[in-house]
Amino acid sequence: MSNIAVIGVQWGDEGKGKIVDRLSERADVVVRFQGGHNAGHTIVINNQIFKLSLLPSGVIRKDKISVIGNGVVFDPWAFISEKKKIEQQGITLTPQNLQISEVASLILPVHQVLDQAREKSADGANKIGTTGRGIGPAYEDKVGRRAVRVGDLAELETLKNKIAYLAEHYNPYLRYLSEPELDKDKLVSDLIAIAPKILPYTYRVFEQLNHAQRAGKRILFEGAQAVMLDVDHGTYPFVTSSNTVAGQAATGSGVGPTSIKNVLGIAKAYTTRVGEGPLPTELTDEIGKLLSERGQEFGVVTGRSRRLGWFDAVMVRQAIIIGGITSIALTKLDVLDGINDLKICVGYKLNGNVIKYFPMEISRQNKVEPIYEIINGWNKSTKGARSLNQLPTAAIKYIKRVEELIDSPITILSTSPAREDTIVIKDPFAG
Ligand code: GDP
Ligand code: IMO
Ligand code: MG
Repeated sequence: MSNIAVIGVQWGDEGKGKIVDRLSERADVVVRFQGGHNAGHTIVINNQIFKLSLLPSGVIRKDKISVIGNGVVFDPWAFISEKKKIEQQGITLTPQNLQISEVASLILPVHQVLDQAREKSADGANKIGTTGRGIGPAYEDKVGRRAVRVGDLAELETLKNKIAYLAEHYNPYLRYLSEPELDKDKLVSDLIAIAPKILPYTYRVFEQLNHAQRAGKRILFEGAQAVMLDVDHGTYPFVTSSNTVAGQAATGSGVGPTSIKNVLGIAKAYTTRVGEGPLPTELTDEIGKLLSERGQEFGVVTGRSRRLGWFDAVMVRQAIIIGGITSIALTKLDVLDGINDLKICVGYKLNGNVIKYFPMEISRQNKVEPIYEIINGWNKSTKGARSLNQLPTAAIKYIKRVEELIDSPITILSTSPAREDTIVIKDPFAG
């Protein structure tokens, strides 16, 4: 057994899609286990660009089985539109290569209305800067035991009862928000209309994954978002509404924790964040602008500019511990080419003291001031490097220093958006 989980370490957009695509060459099954179509994963193959939100990155490789686990919040309309888009790019999805958990909770239009209305009405301090996809309200319904689940699409009576309950639950609040009320008959008929397009893909995913493991197949669990956006361990409340750590790979798909051998964390060689919330190493100067342009730091889902900061070794070290990460893939090294002095955050000042951890409460997270170590940059290009000996000595030194500071081996490096421009020092499937 050598299944792995791949998770983001910072605030998302670290290049998970690229690395998952690269590694899925060696996997048989790729499973999404949390989040929904708030994710935006980019894969570049021979100048063709794929942007995936809800679909596992394994779909690009036609011989893999892709799975949407129970931990995902599933928007059936977003699924159909992403499926169409990807089919236009030559990828065909069938019930043989895509399986959706029958117990995944649905994102319904009302969740998007609520998400967007809350963001619109929130004053400055309470605005999260969500993707507006209805993720938070859908997870609220899940833990509130009101959710409509994928398998309910086959049960008309259950569907009607659940939607009637949702209308009762939400309509007073929607009236208060001056938003249109939930029209239960329309929602039921819309769900009945879409059901035949979804139901053929539904499976008892736990059973499928069990069979796959018994047959000696390799599974890659693909995370969305990242540890600092985890609902428990991140910069709460400026987080997403799911657990993003590797432990969720088990509960979010129906396997036990012992099914996951290695956890690969994906970290950018600097830091970005979309939406509100603390970013201690944030850069608002010309270097920030330069890195942002070079790194093409615009959100895949919403097109928003990503905020940018120096690499924060304290935060990454903490995320590695919490996420159960066993090695790191460091991406976007090429974006740092030609910067003379590279800064890495090695501690924080907080109320006159030096601390070596990232505080868990937002008030203290907002107050920490980074302490930087300056490391020499390099003038040669690393873009497109495919082996360690193509990297300048200063880049190797930078990587070694990062390894020391985060207390974890860096086993993969990425030097451009393209699939092949990756240096695999140690294969995470290999033990
Ligand atoms: P994800 O959400 O973690 O999958 O990451 P995104 O796809 O949202 O954002 C990462 C962006 O960086 C995408 O545009 C990728 O094509 C790009 N990218 C990934 N790895 C590298 C790299 O090593 N160098 C450069 N320059 N771009 C990269
Ligand atoms: P990938 O998988 C970056 C952020 C949003 C917002 C917060 C809550 O591409 O790395 P939500 O819509 O989830 O309720 O928004 O989380 N966010 C992401 N930021 N990458 C993502 O996914 C994100 N998914 C959500 O910007 O700050
Ligand atoms: Mg992304």
